[in-house]
Amino acid sequence: MCGIVGYVGKRDATPVLVEGLHRLEYRGYDSAGLAVVHRGRLQVTKTAGRVADLRAKVQPATKSTIGIGHTRWATHGEPNEVNAHPHTDTAGRIAVVHNGIIENAEQLRDQLTAAGVKLVSDTDTEALAHMIAAEIAADPTLSLSEATCRTLNRVEGAYGLVVLDTKRPDQLVVARNGSPIVLGIGESEMYVASDVAALVRYTRQVVYLEDGEVATLHSGDYQTKTLTDNGAPAAARAPMIVDAEAGDYELGTYPDYMSKEIHEQPEAIRRALRGRLDERFATARLGGINLDARELRSIRQVKFLGCGSAYYAGQMGAAIIEELARIPADAEPASEFRYRSPVVDPDTLYVAVSQSGETSDTLMAVQELKRKGGQVIGTVNVVGSAISRETGHGILLHAGPEVAVASTKALTNMAVNFALLGLLLGRVRDLSAASGDRIVNGLRNLPAQVADILATQTEIAAVAHLYAAADHMFFIGRVRGWPVAREGAQKLKEISYVHAEAYQAGELKHGPLALIQPEMPSVVVIPSDDLVAKNLSTIEQIKARGGPVIALTSVHDLPDSAADAVIRVPRAEPELEPILLNIPLQIFAYHAAAKLGRDIDKPRNLAKSVTVE
Ligand code: G6P
Repeated sequence: MCGIVGYVGKRDATPVLVEGLHRLEYRGYDSAGLAVVHRGRLQVTKTAGRVADLRAKVQPATKSTIGIGHTRWATHGEPNEVNAHPHTDTAGRIAVVHNGIIENAEQLRDQLTAAGVKLVSDTDTEALAHMIAAEIAADPTLSLSEATCRTLNRVEGAYGLVVLDTKRPDQLVVARNGSPIVLGIGESEMYVASDVAALVRYTRQVVYLEDGEVATLHSGDYQTKTLTDNGAPAAARAPMIVDAEAGDYELGTYPDYMSKEIHEQPEAIRRALRGRLDERFATARLGGINLDARELRSIRQVKFLGCGSAYYAGQMGAAIIEELARIPADAEPASEFRYRSPVVDPDTLYVAVSQSGETSDTLMAVQELKRKGGQVIGTVNVVGSAISRETGHGILLHAGPEVAVASTKALTNMAVNFALLGLLLGRVRDLSAASGDRIVNGLRNLPAQVADILATQTEIAAVAHLYAAADHMFFIGRVRGWPVAREGAQKLKEISYVHAEAYQAGELKHGPLALIQPEMPSVVVIPSDDLVAKNLSTIEQIKARGGPVIALTSVHDLPDSAADAVIRVPRAEPELEPILLNIPLQIFAYHAAAKLGRDIDKPRNLAKSVTVE
């Protein structure tokens, strides 16, 4: 959510900033801007459009070796050019880019107005630029870092920010509280960004800033200090080497990231399984969760917490764990959990699920759990992210960088990792070695089976094209098919804007059946389980009311005549089937969205990781 990039060094800063913003655009894309210091003056370029518009607008002749940039997902103020970052003080000396939300912004803006400052934007960020400038005006001996700290000590809320002072064109000041900031170390140059995606092209040596830390970057070095501890130097941390390469973020021959990421799934699953299957004991190796057999046995319940697709993946995980380990498991949106004063049970294993590892609601749920003594692990994709650091241990998803807003390979890897967790929890309980073996083999088969589904893309696309014009769609499932239906509906609405609703098959007759008519197609998910006959009668109920039906199934002998269209997936071990059944629904949503001419990677009003409430 919102992307930040900054540079101080020896290169021409503008292309570095524009390239960085381009890499971060998936985090927010309603407006963009950058500021550099050129011949001692601040030069700000902004656009209410995309980074491509910004690229066209920047002055190619401007040479500067320091600058900051931002791509925005509006929270305070509509997405127009004035509200785009960077924001400056009245004299145009200080420029600030900021992610997050300043909660006492109104109060701070009022104080500035009362002091005679004329604010030009509707944003919370602008107040920061004026406040830092005022601190320096009141005491010109203050360093930029001190002026920033004094300002931040009056600020409530979440931020990741970078400050540029035109009068000190050799340094950037960076601060973090609740919104990710990572420093990139180059040779006689320093980078800063909200996400490593902006950095990997230039350096793989990074340092993640902690909450409450403020850093001053010069081209050759950087110093960190703590905001609260009276500016004491922060504990030194050795730089990490980022796993990703610049190529991981390239599109290659794909038209967009979503299609690239859909097709990367077989390899992503292989990576998730690498080194984690223990054939000898027919179980899983998940060293990162840091729990021995006795501790695993003492878990009486598992609860998944996540948002959006991560929540639906958690539902898939809960189903797999109940089946394999026979302990109660469920999932809850992290956003609900954090606000309802949850009863935290010491014998429950809480699993925080997040691709980005930065989703604010999930992070807050983790903090609430820790405060109440809950046992929580993280399942995240981004190494070094806030949730992975907050939980301390967990399971890395190993999906590789995911750029499209709609989650595909990360969600699949979440479900695969939950199957591993279920296997592990099952095998310290009553899951037999033979059953464990069956799951181990079933997991091993998944990459090839997913590849087989991807090979049927043209047929799935044809079905999607047929139904893309619908205004509304139902996704119906029961038991194992239910989380699949929910995620299928989520995918479709996210990227195609077709209104899609998921329903449990059994609930259909208790209300929603009233909506069935020829203009309301339904996708019915039919796994190969004991409920096939029940699911077929659901199809009949819908057909009897004139509703078109798309059957999504692993049941091989289901005749084509059973529905208006049948999408087939290979049979897997029953517990793992939801992982396969989900894949065609990604492809379905993708092609429906493509047919409707949607911006698939950057759906309207959304952002990849929501680091604010
Ligand atoms: C946003 C995205 C969703 C995503 C959710 C959780 O709402 O639009 O597609 O599933 O965040 O993201 P996370 O990074 O925590 O998995």
